[in-house]
This record gives sequence, structure tokens and C-alpha cells, in this order.
Amino acid sequence: MPITVAFDVYGTLIDTHGVVVEIEKHVGNTASEFSRIWREKQLEYSFRRGLMQNYENFEVCTSNALDYTSSFFKIPLSRQAKEELLNAYKILPAFGDVKEGLIRAKESGFRMFAFSNGTADAVEMLLMTAGIRNLFLGVVSVDEIKSFKPNPAVYSHFLRKSGAVGADAWLVSSNPFDVIGAISSGMRAAWVQRSPEALFDPWGIEPTITVSSLSILADKIANEHAKA
Ligand code: LAC
Repeated sequence: MPITVAFDVYGTLIDTHGVVVEIEKHVGNTASEFSRIWREKQLEYSFRRGLMQNYENFEVCTSNALDYTSSFFKIPLSRQAKEELLNAYKILPAFGDVKEGLIRAKESGFRMFAFSNGTADAVEMLLMTAGIRNLFLGVVSVDEIKSFKPNPAVYSHFLRKSGAVGADAWLVSSNPFDVIGAISSGMRAAWVQRSPEALFDPWGIEPTITVSSLSILADKIANEHAKA
């Protein structure tokens, strides 16, 4: 069986904090903290909408989280400022190790997909802008089943859509909740720990492998399969 790899998008391929430069224009030196809270709320809203079965797409979570963050910092944003920030979020940059790591994975013969909470249109746009769309066979979005990671249904949806089975399918993510979700659903998973300060949740569910960058991912996955 060929190896199928689902690459998480926001926070794994695409740097969500790439929006800090744009945020600085509006909020000054709290930009980094503003970006962190915005991202945390965006994810919290997706978890809550998933649990409540009250689906609105990830762009709505992002926009609602931006409103929350601007209230939290008591920095009102004009309609135009908000639009500028949300537009910047649509063309975020890829991390520096991504292109090389993806090319290496493709050369290893992996069937590669982008798999995201984002809508297919938003993900297509991000991958195109980052110049990496051609490395993927396709984009699988949770929007197709109107729920969010880490609902087990979204990982099953990925397996169905990609035509893979759990033992030969990997999720690659920097987001520990995503890695734990995939492993709980019977996939294998690589955690991309880009900084030594990044913590993994102490749930007793460990990543199949941990890598510090995407450059070494393909070799590590191939090694795991050689062992089996
Ligand atoms: C994604 C989330 C985890 O891209 O940010 O699915």
C-alpha cells in the first residue's frame, strides 16, 4: 500500500503568526500577543461549534475571534482595518522548511493531501500563494462534513476521501490536538515541534514520531514503515 499523508495547514504549513506585521499597523507593540490570542480564540470557537453542532465555517470562527481579541485589548477596529486583517489571513506565508520538506516527501512517493479546518477555497488560495499547491493531490476540508478537528468524523472523512486506510495514513501537524485526534481515530501521526518550547498535551497519547522540521519528515516516515 502506498503511504498517504494528510498535512495540516494552519500552524503546520502556513504560519498563522505571519499576520503580525499587518496587526502591528493597527495595534502597535501588542501585535504578537494579539496574534496569539486571536489564534487561540479561533481554535476555541471551532472546538465549541463542533461540540455544539452549530457549524459556521472556519472564516466565521476567525472573524468572530478577531472581534473578541479587539475587545479584549480594548482596541476598536474600523470595518476597513478588520477587512485588511482578514485579507492578510488569506495570504499567510508558509514556514521556511515547508517547500523543501514537501518536495522530499513527494519524491518519496507519498500520496499527499492538505487536510484542514479551513474551507477548500481558503486552503487552495493559501497553497497557491505559497507556491506549494502543485505538490498535493488534493485538498480535503472539514467543511465537507460541517464539523471541525478533532471530531473523529473528520479523520474518517479524510480516509474515505483519500481512499486510504488508517495504518498507511499519516497526519502531519504542529497542533497537538490534531495529532491526538488522528491517533485516536486510528491514523499514524507526526508532530512537528518547530520550537523546543512547544509542549505536547500530557494525555498519555503520544505522536508516532516527532520531528523538529519538515525537512526530516519523509525519511522518518519511511523508516517507520521499514520497521513494520
Ligand atoms: C487546520 C487547523 C488545525 O488547518 O488550524 O486544520
